[in-house]
Amino acid sequence: PPLAHQLNLDDFALSARHTLSPKALAYYTSAADDLITHRLNSSIFSRILLRPRVLIDIRKVSTETTLLPGHAPSSLPLFIAPAALAKLAHPSGEQGICTAAGSQGIIQCISNNASQTPEEVVADLLADPSNPQRLWWQLYVQADRTKSERMLDRIHKTGKFTAVVLTVDASWPGKREADERLKNTLAAAADNSPTFSASSGHGGEKTLATEGGIGKSLFAGQDMSLVWSDLAWLRSRTKLPIIIKGLQTFEDCVLAAENPHVAGLYLSNHGGRAMDTAPPAVLTLLELRRYAPQILGKKPIFVDGGIRRGTDVLKCLCLGATAVGIGRAALFGLSGYGPAGVERTIQILREEIEGGMKLLGVHSVDELGSRHVNTADVDGL
Ligand code: FNR
Repeated sequence: PPLAHQLNLDDFALSARHTLSPKALAYYTSAADDLITHRLNSSIFSRILLRPRVLIDIRKVSTETTLLPGHAPSSLPLFIAPAALAKLAHPSGEQGICTAAGSQGIIQCISNNASQTPEEVVADLLADPSNPQRLWWQLYVQADRTKSERMLDRIHKTGKFTAVVLTVDASWPGKREADERLKNTLAAAADNSPTFSASSGHGGEKTLATEGGIGKSLFAGQDMSLVWSDLAWLRSRTKLPIIIKGLQTFEDCVLAAENPHVAGLYLSNHGGRAMDTAPPAVLTLLELRRYAPQILGKKPIFVDGGIRRGTDVLKCLCLGATAVGIGRAALFGLSGYGPAGVERTIQILREEIEGGMKLLGVHSVDELGSRHVNTADVDGL
């Protein structure tokens, strides 16, 4: 359908079913085991209610916020989560998403397993030094650490990345059966992403493995021995703020909050693609409120998983998130439409977030708090 007919994120998800190749669709939409966490990520939001206040002058509302202290503001409490292999959605790939994120004034986090090299993704920014757009880089530490070190050096050299997001919830590949079933079209997938190995730092592989699905083949080479004390190593290799992605319990959030090397906490279950029946990020936020409230407000908290509506974003912010990521939604927006589709996806969320703030009676992102949500239905979970 024409782009203007796409009214919400579900519309994009639906049309992506027709524009993506069967293999890309299986890889993007798949999640672990029985998809319980994947489905709960979205459905949990229907069990959290908003508490709108009325008779408040809402002519002036600002969605602007700062994701990390001292960093340039983001036009929205929203960012693009790292997702591998964007070229499977559209030839413009991660660079296409970058264009959209830039025009919308939000941060994009580039995956360790992007289908383009970091230099390719930021080529337009390198060509125009006056362009203020910045990105984040997501890291999977490789068993051969020198590969990760070399990649970090390249990231630094571009001067365009302002944070490193260390993903820790996929220390073992989730069992994504939809991805694993469609083995025979992997060659086509590899054709769509000839450079993924360059940005993954795996080495010279030019094609994806033909067994076990894309997810498992991308996992090859990852360091399974990584522990908290390795953050000292990462600190020694980068001066950028380090964000830990994939926190799923209040206990780990406390460890991250207390760790001097950690600048931000990123609550995520990998879009339900790693541990099935792991909790949605909003439940981890509720755990924090209950068991470790001292953490809230200490360091920035990022969340993702299942975001389909502006109200979903607002609920996360009310429960303590600084900003909220979208994973699949950006890929679906890119599919069939290129950068314009991602731009419209962000624009839709912008209108929903801004409209939601008006109906809630708040003027700024900072004003959103637990008094704006009713979590009675999920408090016992
Ligand atoms: C991901 N995700 C992910 N995360 C990460 O840290 N590194 C990665 O390379 C990837 N790759 C990836 C590929 C695809 C196809 C998907 C769908 C997801 C997880 C991603 O960052 C994010 O946590 C989830 O996608 C959020 O859930 P939603 O928004 O997709 O529901």
